[in-house]
Amino acid sequence: MGTVLDAATKDANGSLLTDKKVTVVFVLGGPGSGKGTQCANIVEHYGYTHLSAGDLLRAEIKSGSENGTMIQNMIKEGKIVPSEVTIKLLQRAMNESGNDKFLIDGFPRNEENRAAFELVTGMEPTFVLFFDCLEEEMERRLLSRNQGREDDNIETIRKRFRVYMESSLPVIEYYNSKGKVRKIDAAKPVEEVFEAVKEVFTPSNAEVAA
Ligand code: ADP
Ligand code: C5P
Ligand code: MG
Repeated sequence: MGTVLDAATKDANGSLLTDKKVTVVFVLGGPGSGKGTQCANIVEHYGYTHLSAGDLLRAEIKSGSENGTMIQNMIKEGKIVPSEVTIKLLQRAMNESGNDKFLIDGFPRNEENRAAFELVTGMEPTFVLFFDCLEEEMERRLLSRNQGREDDNIETIRKRFRVYMESSLPVIEYYNSKGKVRKIDAAKPVEEVFEAVKEVFTPSNAEVAA
């Protein structure tokens, strides 16, 4: 069986080509905007594999990897882990999944993430699902998330919001300028947000159905 990495081949000019059709949707939005919650719904209805960069990094800490301490420190400070580390985890998870449709949640988080992913995998997202939500609402949600996350405290949350504004929003703007952003009002109740998400994934939408 072919894998995502097998699909990346180089042409005579050395640029990356993908000969297997792999669908990648980036799922972006601020911390607490509901990315993970909605990805679970999308997986159930549309057969995607959900890969949360944050979840993969947290699993890497738990596995006792040599990068664990570095990752843990970055997460505590709300900083973005070097792309090399995160992309390796994403690639491994993509290959192990056996699927060819991926929701990549919480990635790319900055310009370095974005450019490195394109360079290393040769893939571009079909589109970017963007969960738009006011900071006050995201803060409320994070403070009551109760998943025992070390970064869901007010001090780290403020740092994460700052990183989001300074580093992640420009990536969303970049994809917006390419017409790839599908913006969702994420401040509504979960069910209503999912209704809007379904509009984006509906099979009549040619780019998804293809
Ligand atoms: P993200 O992955 O974007 O950080 P989550 O999906 O983990 O966000 O959601 C953060 C918290 O907010 C969770 O406790 C979740 O249950 C809750 N939540 C998610 N979506 C909504 C919503 N539309 N309205 C209210 N609470 C929500
Ligand atoms: O997306 P999530 O809220 O789970 O991310 C938690 C933390 O994981 C981020 O604040 C950041 O420290 C780290 N992360 C990262 N690079 C990514 C995604 C998450 O460094 N692309
Ligand atoms: Mg999440």
